[in-house]
Amino acid sequence: MMPSYGLRGRAAVVTGGTRGIGRAVAGALAAAGALVCVSARDADEVRSTAAALGGTGLAGSVAEPEHARELTRLALGEFGRLDILVNNAATNRPYGPLMDADPGAWREAFTVNVEGPLRLTQCAWRGWMREHGGSVVNICTEGATHVGPDVGAYGTSKAALLHLTRQLAGELAPRVRVNSVSPGLVRTELARFMWEPREAEIAAGLPLGRIGEPEDVAGAVLWLCSDAARWVTGADILVDGGTRVRAAHAPAGGRGEPGDRPPGPAPA
Ligand SMILES: NC(=O)c1ccc[n+]([C@@H]2O[C@H](COP(=O)([O-])OP(=O)(O)OC[C@H]3O[C@@H](n4cnc5c(N)ncnc54)[C@H](OP(=O)(O)O)[C@@H]3O)[C@@H](O)[C@H]2O)c1
Repeated sequence: MMPSYGLRGRAAVVTGGTRGIGRAVAGALAAAGALVCVSARDADEVRSTAAALGGTGLAGSVAEPEHARELTRLALGEFGRLDILVNNAATNRPYGPLMDADPGAWREAFTVNVEGPLRLTQCAWRGWMREHGGSVVNICTEGATHVGPDVGAYGTSKAALLHLTRQLAGELAPRVRVNSVSPGLVRTELARFMWEPREAEIAAGLPLGRIGEPEDVAGAVLWLCSDAARWVTGADILVDGGTRVRAAHAPAGGRGEPGDRPPGPAPA
């Protein structure tokens, strides 16, 4: 069971809150007593998730500036406040070598993964947080600080989101804290193409012995949203099962030679 961290009565917007990590975050916030507003493109999923959480929701894409404005208006109208914004929705397209990247798909990656979070933060700031304070958490990726095959657009946009997090943390302090959480490989639809074909092999190479579950990430987000993290801003919390330290990890059954290690996950 998640600790409540005193979120009772606070109001939260979670983008991409209908499945995967966003759904786990929305569920954890609701279980901690927060009022939750979710967004995603699939209207049926938004409706059923909002109902399950006893909250509200709006269908649309974070790529649309009008969606950011409407979502903020909805949360403020329904709850009368907006204390927490979790920028979780993202795309991992276009997939493949950057020399083949279609300009429209490249632009879309930055619109969804970087501009969307900025627009929503602007709306939350103007509508509530500038005056009353708040906490923004951006979901980045463990892979944002290094390179990998075929994920150039995703990695570059997430590196920009990491930088945006720090920039905003400085600009919006002391009223608003802005942090990020960077997951390793987590069992969701977005990353299915990576974990499904070789989960056992990847898990065996991770110091904590398994790939992540959405709830593993939600715990860190919940903490950052809460007053327990009141002196934390501009931070990035890795929730990666030890992905970054796996080079020092001896897999169960013996130390082996460095070349014996199963390959770790590429950034998801
Ligand atoms: N899974 C991993 O291994 C992993 C690792 C590192 C980082 N992350 C990050 O974690 C976050 C969540 O990913 P996930 O793995 O949970 O993905 P997921 O299971 O595919 O869920 C994505 C959610 O975002 C929504 N969404 C997608 N595009 C959207 C858009 N343009 N506007 C609004 N909503 C949108 C989806 O609903 P609709 O399709 O209905 O819009 C869904 O609710 C992302 O920021 C991702 O980069 C994931």
